[in-house]
Amino acid sequence: MRIKLVAGNWKMNGTLATNQALLQALVPALARVVGVKCAICAPFPYLAQVQQLLSGTGLAWGAQNVSQFDAGAYTGEVSGAMLVDFGCRYVIVGHSERRALFGETSETVAEKYAAALKAGLTPILCVGETLADREAGYTEPVVAAQLAPVLAASGAQSFAHAVIAYEPVWAIGTGKTATPEQAQAVHAYIRTRLATHDAAVAEKVQVLYGGSVKGSNAAQLFGMPDIDGGLIGGASLDANEMAVICRAASPAS
Ligand code: PGA
Repeated sequence: MRIKLVAGNWKMNGTLATNQALLQALVPALARVVGVKCAICAPFPYLAQVQQLLSGTGLAWGAQNVSQFDAGAYTGEVSGAMLVDFGCRYVIVGHSERRALFGETSETVAEKYAAALKAGLTPILCVGETLADREAGYTEPVVAAQLAPVLAASGAQSFAHAVIAYEPVWAIGTGKTATPEQAQAVHAYIRTRLATHDAAVAEKVQVLYGGSVKGSNAAQLFGMPDIDGGLIGGASLDANEMAVICRAASPAS
């Protein structure tokens, strides 16, 4: 049985004051939630604050992006080692917003994924199709093309230390969730795809669903056999919603 992971993606939201209020409400709300891993992926400037507030709690934390480079003359970049310095366990790589708005190609994403692993972080690799891709019947080839450079550069065995998030672009921040069946089909496809390289790793890797997950739809999504938790955007900014989602991922729920 795969343990579920629920990771919040705060995106470019928050202030010192709102983060503190959010985490101080979330930590006690999750205190008795068992058998599920929960994490928060915060903006870079708040990692020190998150580290301070979450150290010693059951919650892990991480970042939303990482440089593909180790160190040096890369103005504006943040390395994996820097994230480790602030206690990060996870880092999101290849989020569709970074692909669409900041020109990250699947090749760059593969470099970031490798850099995260090299630093000792667990990358949360995001893949997912646009509405146009889906309507044209291209969901599977698009997802396969996003995975291919990662498999080529780091190998299938690397997924023993990584997480995949399937996030259909049309479901992100739109309130339009993929149905549990739609998501399950792509999750199963991702696992099958990995299994052609390494069946044992494919069986173990956590594949999260992301895209308008809320307290009201989490349990149904998490009930599907290949959905191992969620990457939560908007709802992760609300402590109550996030707590309901984490509880829905607990085997005790
Ligand atoms: P959403 O975002 O939950 O607000 O749709 C998910 C994500 O982008 O990771």
